[in-house]
This record gives sequence, structure tokens and C-alpha cells, in this order.
Amino acid sequence: MKNSNESIELHWGTLLSCLTCSLRTPNMKSQLIVSLVIFFIIESIAADPATSIVFNTLGRSRYAFDIFSLPIDTTGTEIQLTDGNSVNFNGYFASSFNGNPIANPTAVDPLPTHLVYVTERNGSTSIYLDSIYHASVDRTRKRSVLEAELTRAQHRLVGGSGGRISMKDRPSLVGDFLVYVSTHEETGVGRTSWAAVYSTQLSTSSTRRLTPQGVADFSPAVSPSGLWTAVASSGEKGWGGEVQELDTDIYVFLTQNGSSRVKVVEHGGWPSWADESTFFFHRKSDDGWWSIYKAILPQNKPFSVNSVMTQRVTPPGLHAFTPAASVTKKNIIAVATRRPNSDYRHIELYDIVSGSFKDLTRSVAPRVNHYNPFISPDSSRVGYHKCRGSGSNKKIKNDMFLENMQTPKPGISLFRIDGSFPSFSPDGSQIAYVDLPGLYVVNSDGSDHRELAADITAFSTAWNPARKGVIYTSIGPTFASESTDVDIFAVEVDSDEPTFTKLTFGGQNNAFPSVSPDGKWIAFRSGRSGHKNLYIMSALEGEKGGLTQLTNGPWSDTMCNWSPDGDWIAFASDRHDPGSGSFALYMIHPNGTGLRQLIHSGSSGRTNHPWFSPDGKYIVFTSDYAGVSAEPISNPHAYQPYGDIFTMKLDGSELTRLTHNSYEDGTPSWGPKFMKLENVEWPKGEEKCSFEDCTWLAISNTHDDAKIQCGG
Ligand SMILES: *[C@@H]1O[C@H](CO)[C@@H](O)[C@H](O)[C@H]1NC(C)=O
Ligand SMILES: *[C@@H]1O[C@H](CO)[C@@H](O)[C@H](O)[C@H]1NC(C)=O
Ligand SMILES: *[C@@H]1O[C@H](CO)[C@@H](O)[C@H](O)[C@H]1NC(C)=O
Repeated sequence: MKNSNESIELHWGTLLSCLTCSLRTPNMKSQLIVSLVIFFIIESIAADPATSIVFNTLGRSRYAFDIFSLPIDTTGTEIQLTDGNSVNFNGYFASSFNGNPIANPTAVDPLPTHLVYVTERNGSTSIYLDSIYHASVDRTRKRSVLEAELTRAQHRLVGGSGGRISMKDRPSLVGDFLVYVSTHEETGVGRTSWAAVYSTQLSTSSTRRLTPQGVADFSPAVSPSGLWTAVASSGEKGWGGEVQELDTDIYVFLTQNGSSRVKVVEHGGWPSWADESTFFFHRKSDDGWWSIYKAILPQNKPFSVNSVMTQRVTPPGLHAFTPAASVTKKNIIAVATRRPNSDYRHIELYDIVSGSFKDLTRSVAPRVNHYNPFISPDSSRVGYHKCRGSGSNKKIKNDMFLENMQTPKPGISLFRIDGSFPSFSPDGSQIAYVDLPGLYVVNSDGSDHRELAADITAFSTAWNPARKGVIYTSIGPTFASESTDVDIFAVEVDSDEPTFTKLTFGGQNNAFPSVSPDGKWIAFRSGRSGHKNLYIMSALEGEKGGLTQLTNGPWSDTMCNWSPDGDWIAFASDRHDPGSGSFALYMIHPNGTGLRQLIHSGSSGRTNHPWFSPDGKYIVFTSDYAGVSAEPISNPHAYQPYGDIFTMKLDGSELTRLTHNSYEDGTPSWGPKFMKLENVEWPKGEEKCSFEDCTWLAISNTHDDAKIQCGG
């Protein structure tokens, strides 16, 4: 059975032939009943025909991370440790591996490197252990020769195919136990993170939750002996909507079972242990600089915030964060830095005693971002992740990229597109989308990529369900005020020279067109009254062919989507708290009756971009319902590092989280055709390494400016 649509056609045929034959002989009656029963079973399957959802992850398609390492003391070559295929990050050097025996491949190497790391494959993260063997045991040979000849054995430890979809992050390996973050358990409460720390015994695959229920933990680090685990946790406070520095404290608990949990540091994140009673962590200092701090736990007293000594380690004048301690060289830490006048994040060593920094990555690749250092057990090497390949930050144009994602709903094919506001053509065969700048159409399998306009700033796309090859978009700046020049255009995409027809006039932020199923009307939002409200106009002639105001009030109604049966318009609005920036989803009939709230993720919550399923029974949307899943500073820039894609039924039931990651997922849309993953072409153009480091770490020229920027 290829998909349920095809099977329905088959049974329709069987049923029709039986209906005619049953008229001839009475004892065919029972067969008819059997056929009808089969028909109704098939019909109930057909209630959820296989479909596709496509969405955008801000920046993510441009990250091609691999884990690399550099020697600490000697000058030596940078080695790429991971496979160059998957997106690999947040590594950890294991000192030993006591789990299932590793089959040693052809290479004979008594000292393989055991690298534990997070890997994203087909849109879902899992944790792998790679045993990296040097091709020669002759360690007296020149390093560069050795390093060029690696073989690796990959082992999946947790996550990935077969399991529940979730995010896995920040692994540590202690003997047979893997300690890591996972988001596989839902909290049942809006705007709370699903991130919690678990330990899995690799030999038995038994998993234990170490984080208490109702609490989110991030960035776990296990002490050298394995006894203690330190985490950044928002504790009982939960998430207050922070998108830069999370309001976390550091807690310590017993790795074995999560007991003896105690808050040891107020305000801090990303702990890393130097020994059983010392760890480093980062915090944004009162002077505005992200800095490394040291915490010393008492020897003979119970731990508490009062008994733990903390001191600042790195000076003001630069941002230093995501520390990695060395267990053999107590005065050395590796840190990521952002220095004044640099847009790039680099890995440096810091000597706590002499107070001096030593550049590591700047000399290798000055114009590349490097993330989240970690130090080998013998302190000979520092690992980190960065874009593989040249790492050139060229803007990549006309390079289509569709990426399949594992999904918890088998009937839905889920794709990430390297573009914004994608929407499917009525038959599902094409996708229109925008980039900033540009408006494009591409076949749903990624082929035949066409540029409709290269230099326009457009946002939102919608197809006319009744007129072939007609899409609508809004052209003008995004996130702008009511009076900003934004207008809606119809674009005929099938002609050799795409034609643009302006449908709104006066340019008062007319945007987010969505077409009625008969193709005659367009719902959109406009700021023409001084507030962003919803309007309906003629799809053919625009506002000149008829205009009615659908909603009216001193708030913002926006991002509307017309249901396939024509009865509803779903939209996002802040009407429950005008001007607050908090958006919830609402529905209204096109005649202005029936207004109701569909989902609000919580006080101050943000839920946006609703889109109906082709059968009209569900909507897909983006929401902060599941909070943030990792410390934002440990990732490249995301404006709002909390958006995940969800679906729900129109009655508010069956809320389902489709994506689990620490990025910003948004602008989903739903199409009628199941795109088989193997049928999607993924043109692989240049290396994709065009993304920004956290823009809020930018430091401008003068010290005073720096203070303003960093203190803000
Ligand atoms: C990713 O999906 C493709 C297409 O379905 C499949 O061939 C490939 O094996 C998958 N990769 C992994 C690592 O699961
Ligand atoms: C947790 O482990 C410690 C020893 O590591 C033990 O003393 C304690 O009883 C355990 N607590 C629970 C609740 O299992
Ligand atoms: C408004 O439209 C809805 C469905 O689109 C319909 O059920 C309802 O009767 C209409 N109400 C009025 C007052 O026309």
C-alpha cells in the first residue's frame, strides 16, 4: 500500500462492481454488507489522508556543523572528527567506554578517541559515540600525517530512528551511563520547556529521569568521578520568556538517581567540572559582559547557595562564555569569546593564574563561528563545532534545499525548507516561498526552482485554489507599523514573464492574503484603520472589486488562513492583551460571527501562523508552548529560540508537537500530497555556512557603546 489515497480508489472499484452484481443474485447481499463494512473502515482511514507539512527553521538550513579539534600546547593541525554528512555538535571526549564492546575496524590503534556528540539526521537529533582510530600506531610520526588517516566506527547511543521524536543534547558518558538532555516527555503545561536530564544505562538501555517533574534542566555536566551532575535550571520559576540569557540557577544532584538536589549558585549556566568540588560556569555580569565564574563547593558542609564560594574569573572588555574545564590542568579553561569589533565567536584558552588568553581557532579560521568547547581527559586537545568546508560566509542564492524530518504522525510527511512562508499549490505539486529578498516557486520534490522576482522583500504566500498558477503575496517590510508601505499582489507564475497585479492600494500594511476555496475572495490584514484588523476583498479585482472589514478593534489581528470548507478564517491576534506582543490563535466565520479562541500557550505566550489541514479538521502552527530547549547562547542566532511546530484539532484537542529543537521553527503550511522522502531532490550546492552568531553579543567600537550594547 503506497498511501491511503491509492487504496481508497481500489476499494471504491471493488464496491461499485459488487453493487451491480448484488442486484442479480439475492445471496450476494451478505457480500454487499461485507463490502460496505470494508468501505466504512477505509472511509474512516480516509478521514486523515496522507499529507505534507513544510516549514522554515530560521538559519538552520545554513548550518553544516562538524566537530573539530586542535591540540592545546603544540601547534598542530585541526582535525575534523565527525563524518561530514550529518549536522554534528556539542561533543564530549569520553575517557573510556565501558558499554557494549566496540568492534575495532581494520586500523589497529591502542588509543582511539571516543567522541560522544549530538547528531541531527533527517531532522531529528540522537546521541552517537564515534571511536576514531588513527590509521597508524606509530605516534612518533608527524601529526599531520596521522591526522589525515582516520577511520571511525559510529554507534548510536540514544534517540533517532524507532524512538519517540525528541531533542537530545549535551551528553556526558560515565562508565556505562550516558547523561543527557531530552525533550521526549511533555509537561502538559504551556510555556514550559520539556528539556530534562536523563541517564541511560547503555548495556541495559534502561533510562531514568534525573530532573524532578515540573522542572526544566539544561546543560548538564557530570563531575570527573561521575558522582555529581550540575545543571542550569529555571527551577520552580519556569520560563519567563527570555530569549537571550535564560533566568537559570545552577543545581547539583547525585548522578545515580537525581537525589540530594540542591541549588548551589544563583544566576548562572553551562557548568563544567574541574574536580569533585570545583566547577566553572557562565553568567552575564552586572557590567554587561558575559563572563566565566568559578564555584567551589564546601568539603565538609552540605552544599547550598550560602556555603558555595563563587568568584569571577574572566575580566570585562570581552564576552566569554560556555566554559570547558580541564581535569588535569586546573588553571586552564577553554571558552568561547566574542571580542570587540569581531562578528565571530572563537575558542580561546584562558589561564586563570596569569589572567591571559590564548587564541586557538582565530589563527585557523578567523571568519568562522566556533561553538561550545570541550577538553580531552588528558588535556591535550580542545574540541568544538563549526561549519565544515571552507566556511565562507557567502550568501547562497538560488540553491533550493528541502530536508525531510522524522514525524510522530505517520500520515504526515514533514519537511524543512530553506526559505520562508512556503505554501503548496492546490494539487500539492508546487511550493511558493519567499526569501529575504525574493519570491520563488519550486516543485514539491525540490526540482525546477524558479525565481519570480529576485530583489523584492515579500512575505507570506498563498495560492488561489480555483485559478491555476495564481499566487498572492505581500510586498514590503516585515514587522512594520500600521502605516508602512506594504501591499498585496497577485502573481501569475506559469507565464514566462511572471505578471504582478496590485490588489491593495494606499500601502497601509496590507499583508497575509489567504483565498476562499471558491477562489473569489481574499482575507488579509490591513493597518488602514490605524490598527491591524482583518478584511475581505475580491480576489480578481482586489479592494476595488469589493472590500469588507471582518474584525475591528484597537489590537492586531494578522496571519489569517481560510479553511478548505470556506466556513472559518483562522488568525493570530493579541486582542486578549493588545500591544503586549502576546499572540494567540482565534477563528471567525467569514460573515463575522462565531469568534473564538483556539489556543493561547499561556500568559504572554506567542502562537502564530495557523494553517488548516487539507481536510479542514486540524491546524498547524508555530508556538512557544514548549518554551526553549537549550541555553540560547550555545546556538547560532535565532530571534526567538522557542518556536516549535504543533498541530491540533479545531476543538482544541490532540495537541501534537512535531518539532523538537532549540531553533526557531515557523511559517508552516499544509499541502494535500504526501511527499515521499525518497522522491525529494536535495540539490546540494555550495557549503551552507551562512548564518549569524547571536546578534545580541555584538560589541561596537568604543567602551561606552559597548556598555550600552551589553547592558541592554
Ligand atoms: C534519512 O532519510 C533518507 C530518505 O528517507 C534515508 O535514505 C536515510 O537513510 C535517512 N538517514 C538516516 C541517517 O536515517
Ligand atoms: C540515591 O542514591 C544514593 C547513593 O548514590 C542513595 O544513598 C540514595 O538512597 C538513593 N536515593 C533514592 C531515592 O533512590
Ligand atoms: C455565518 O456563517 C456560518 C458558516 O460560515 C453559518 O453557519 C452562520 O449561519 C452564518 N451566520 C449568519 C448570521 O449568517
